[in-house]
Amino acid sequence: MTTTLAVLNQKGGAGKTTLSTNIACQLQLNDYRVLLVDSDPQGSARDWHAASDGQHLPVVGLDRATLDRDIKAITKDYDWVVIDGAPQLREMAVAAIKAADVILIPVQPSPYDIWACSDLVELIKSRQEVTDGRPKTAFVISRVIQGTKLSKEVREALAEYGLPVFEHFTSQRVIYPNSAASGSTPMLMEPSGEGAKEVQRITRELNNFITGGITRGTHSEAAL
Ligand SMILES: Nc1ncnc2c1ncn2[C@@H]1O[C@H](COP(=O)(O)OP(=O)(O)OP(=O)(O)O)[C@@H](O)[C@H]1O
Ligand SMILES: [Mg+2]
Repeated sequence: MTTTLAVLNQKGGAGKTTLSTNIACQLQLNDYRVLLVDSDPQGSARDWHAASDGQHLPVVGLDRATLDRDIKAITKDYDWVVIDGAPQLREMAVAAIKAADVILIPVQPSPYDIWACSDLVELIKSRQEVTDGRPKTAFVISRVIQGTKLSKEVREALAEYGLPVFEHFTSQRVIYPNSAASGSTPMLMEPSGEGAKEVQRITRELNNFITGGITRGTHSEAAL
């Protein structure tokens, strides 16, 4: 059976491509058969793939609003299909929501970024209403400034949307852009580094989330 994960946020620069390439890589390291689908006409995931000469993962581009139909023809040989979402394009978000079994919304810990999720959350909730709660959806906080405490307010503000917030998050670390530049990831470049650990924790939490494990809606304080 294939699980389709969509990494969505209509806000540019939220961390969609970073999260989707990294989760896809970690899932592959966990011995799953993984396909990365680039739904963004900018083609960032395809650029990432080309930068490694296509070494690490199969990546295909499906950047039209027929994504939910087109994807059916190519998923069957994979355990996981990870869709890197496109910014702004509402019709692409709608198609990705239809295609997904699970959605992660990377969001930076700032009020503007949190407010900007409202349209996407509405789209997801309207879909969930007609599909018995599918796709399961959670926020993943991204690009937390190191050395700061992730405030309780950020988790609480996100929890007001009525969707769970992952306990684990990514911090702002140079290893993410540095590894991306050569089409790699922290796990391949610095397997025992902190960036790799963050991705491993998020991927583990994703697996638990799918199998019904607990992700709290709010969490008082995250130790950084
Ligand atoms: N945790 C992180 N630490 C440091 N830099 C990061 C992190 N996450 C993302 N970045 C950098 O921030 C920029 C935006 O991230 P990314 O491209 O993943 O966002 P996106 O949501 O895919 O953007 P777009 O909406 O343009 O597709 C990139 O330059 C990326 O390398
Ligand atoms: Mg992107």
